[in-house]
Amino acid sequence: MEQTKIKKVLVTGGIGYIGSHTVIELIEADYEVIIIDNLVNSSLVCLERVKAIVSKPENITFEEVDLRDATRLSQVFHEYLPDAVIHFAALKAVGESVAKPLDYYENNVGGTINLLKSMNLYKCNMIVFSSSACVYGDNPYASETDRLAPINPYGMTKVMCEQIIQDYSNTNKNFAAVILRYFNPIGAHSSGMIGEDPKDIPNNLMPYLQKVASGQLPHLNVFGKDYDTVDGTGVRDYIHVVDLAQGHIVALDKQEQLQGYHVFNLGTGNGTSVLQLATAFEKAFETEMKKVMCDRRPGDAPKSTACADKVFNELGWKAKLDIDDMCRDSANWTKKNPNGFHAQP
Ligand code: NAD
Ligand code: WQD
Repeated sequence: MEQTKIKKVLVTGGIGYIGSHTVIELIEADYEVIIIDNLVNSSLVCLERVKAIVSKPENITFEEVDLRDATRLSQVFHEYLPDAVIHFAALKAVGESVAKPLDYYENNVGGTINLLKSMNLYKCNMIVFSSSACVYGDNPYASETDRLAPINPYGMTKVMCEQIIQDYSNTNKNFAAVILRYFNPIGAHSSGMIGEDPKDIPNNLMPYLQKVASGQLPHLNVFGKDYDTVDGTGVRDYIHVVDLAQGHIVALDKQEQLQGYHVFNLGTGNGTSVLQLATAFEKAFETEMKKVMCDRRPGDAPKSTACADKVFNELGWKAKLDIDDMCRDSANWTKKNPNGFHAQP
């Protein structure tokens, strides 16, 4: 790679849940950030809060751009000439991806192709891409070299984007591509000013717990009670969103050794069951929640955890925060913002 220190980072989807936490870490690590987002699943209130949290808000620029708009995207590259891209922007609801597969392929895969074309045109030679544990399908302890077997269109978009990025990186010897396969991000910034705020009724466990604890949903449906796990409920590798965000900074900082194509799991390696997470969240929120034991959710794996050895051995990254930290910060965000980024009704 032509070695110029990365300074300007374009962050797609940078006011979404993981993107906003990463922008904070980028600014504190002295990067300049250009965010692009089409606001399909985010709010400008989040951007205002991020600017209020960081030490140098003047280093954040926001452009409302849809990745599917190749002309507009290329104008942004022309104007800012970023040194690297962190690519979060995607649609991410598994059920919706089954109902609207074309929208998911168009947005996630089409958006990634547009992005790579602009990067190629403007000689931007590093991408960090948000992939997901769901590329592994049903795999209780996944390593990066394991077989990819997604079971829904959302997961397939991630596999396709990984492949496209790999093929593109093979054509450009100066290119560095880092694929980060996130396990289950939860938690929030310690300020309680930003956190996860899904627009509809949540599908994922932590945002659902947040809604039950704040009285907006009556009870937690526990999907599956007879798995071969510690207490019969599904086990996942939850990771604090701030640990995850810091993983991206480590990748940018190590650009010298990351020329070529690299894949890393970002997880803790530890499994937590649905009931264990619910109990930890109840403690953090100082409440008790009604739980209704239900049938298994179709397509769910009994257990999904990461082998996180590679990212530690090669990049020196390791998650620092535990389940109680995650629940404390999710509870703090929810107590302070029961309606997320929306004003109280
Ligand atoms: P999010 O929905 O909060 O953030 C995604 C952001 O991208 C949103 O702000 C949305 O408005 C924007 N966006 C979507 N399509 C766009 C487009 N065409 N043009 C411009 N902006 C667009 O999601 P998140 O949880 O922050 O996830 C970030 C990334 O991490 C996604 O790629 C997601 O697939 C991946 N991921 C998330 C999880 C998770 O559980 N949250 C797990 C694994 C991987
Ligand atoms: C965790 C556990 C559920 C909700 C999904 C996507 C994956 C990734 C993360 C982006 C499971 C149980 C859940 C509820 C419950 N996203 N559960 N009651 O299924 O690991 O992964 O989100 O890439 O692609 O598939 O996460 O939070 O939905 O579920 O009992 O109301 O909680 O059955 O065991 P999952 P999740």
